[in-house]
Amino acid sequence: MKVMVVGGGGREHAIIKKLKESPKVRTIYALPGNGGIAKDAECVNIGAKDIEAIRDFAVKKKVDFAVVAPDDPLVLGAVDLLEQAGIPCFGPKKNAAIIEGSKIFSKNLMKKYGIPTASYEVFTEMQPALDYLATAPIPTVVKADGLALGKGVVIATTREEAYDAVRSMMEDKKFGESGSRIVIEEFLTGPEVSVLSFTDGEIVVPMISSMDHKRSHDNDEGLNTGGMGTVAPNPYYTPEIAQRCMDEIFLPTVRAMRQEGRTFRGCLYFGLMLTPNGPKVIEYNCRFGDPETQVVLPLLKSDLFEIMRACAGGTLVDTNVKFSDEHACCVVMASDGYPQAYETGFPITVDEDCTAQIYVAGAKTDDYGRMLTSGGRVLGVTEVGATLQEAIDKAYASVEKVHFDNAYYRHDIGQRALKAYTK
Ligand code: AMP
Ligand code: GLY
Repeated sequence: MKVMVVGGGGREHAIIKKLKESPKVRTIYALPGNGGIAKDAECVNIGAKDIEAIRDFAVKKKVDFAVVAPDDPLVLGAVDLLEQAGIPCFGPKKNAAIIEGSKIFSKNLMKKYGIPTASYEVFTEMQPALDYLATAPIPTVVKADGLALGKGVVIATTREEAYDAVRSMMEDKKFGESGSRIVIEEFLTGPEVSVLSFTDGEIVVPMISSMDHKRSHDNDEGLNTGGMGTVAPNPYYTPEIAQRCMDEIFLPTVRAMRQEGRTFRGCLYFGLMLTPNGPKVIEYNCRFGDPETQVVLPLLKSDLFEIMRACAGGTLVDTNVKFSDEHACCVVMASDGYPQAYETGFPITVDEDCTAQIYVAGAKTDDYGRMLTSGGRVLGVTEVGATLQEAIDKAYASVEKVHFDNAYYRHDIGQRALKAYTK
């Protein structure tokens, strides 16, 4: 089979490496892919947001199956276009991707169907938002409605910060149209868990849970990033909590989407907070997480291609989805300075005895076939072990075997999870 994967980051590299294990997959095209993905797939220089060109390429190459991984093309309707052209897809249509594309949509959905989440108010004009904040409990959380590269969320610990957040979104248009409508919501506390799930719109099969590390520096200090590392499984996600999440959140969400005429097929990502009042939804994503995928898929024992086809075809109930009972740790190596300004163009080398899975996010290939850094997050180094400690130790040993100038990474990926085990 000829498979096309849309996207070009570490997440897509992890998806592609797993798809390659399937005996059914013969050729993989990556649009646009990157300098590391080029070793595992045929990269085609079409941007992930150029959905008409993506459709035209798929038709021309007679692609058998498409995987649309990033949020932008999903929210723009890439799956609708591909399916209209007769190409089966893994990923939600535009009318279901809105679960990530609009926070107002997802909050209203949760309210209507009684799915636990932070209480909230929606504002479409600035003055009422500022008036509301005058008496709102602090800390409070201000969110832009639309996609904002994961940066449209401000946790305001003072009233001034909350006013500033509203003004920068609604007056200065910091996130463009994404911030013209906002949500102000209750500040929740508790451990965070990411649960990615497969769904065909009827049933939902959660993958192994994971924990992201979003801040740039050790001890969860510094700016928010796209994610500096992950571990799986997440020790806070006990079997009892998993059952509650299935009954109170996962199934109700998939049913609600169906009832709204927005059947969701693909990977539905639940960003959860385990609050003293039970698990609550912090956010939905309409896609695999990055870098969660880089620890979740290495633990998948079943055939990813078969699962994806079952999600597209509505036959997930008959499909094997098994995970290993091992642990995985991914340490993201970034360009020093990320998520702010950083330099790129440095050659990347990996020692021959490095055992890790290396998922490349920001690298290109030069005329001599060398890999050069080209992004903020450069690559993720994933190792699997019988225990979390072993996975962490192996991951950090492998990080020492990957070299590029100005490399920066956190030294404490997995430490919070380890503490949870010893409690
Ligand atoms: P999001 O982009 O929605 O994932 O939000 C980014 C981060 O902000 C989350 O991972 C949480 O750590 C935090 N966050 C979002 N909403 C809340 C909330 N209601 N209460 C506390 N923290 C939140
Ligand atoms: N790691 C968080 C996300 O993919 O949104």
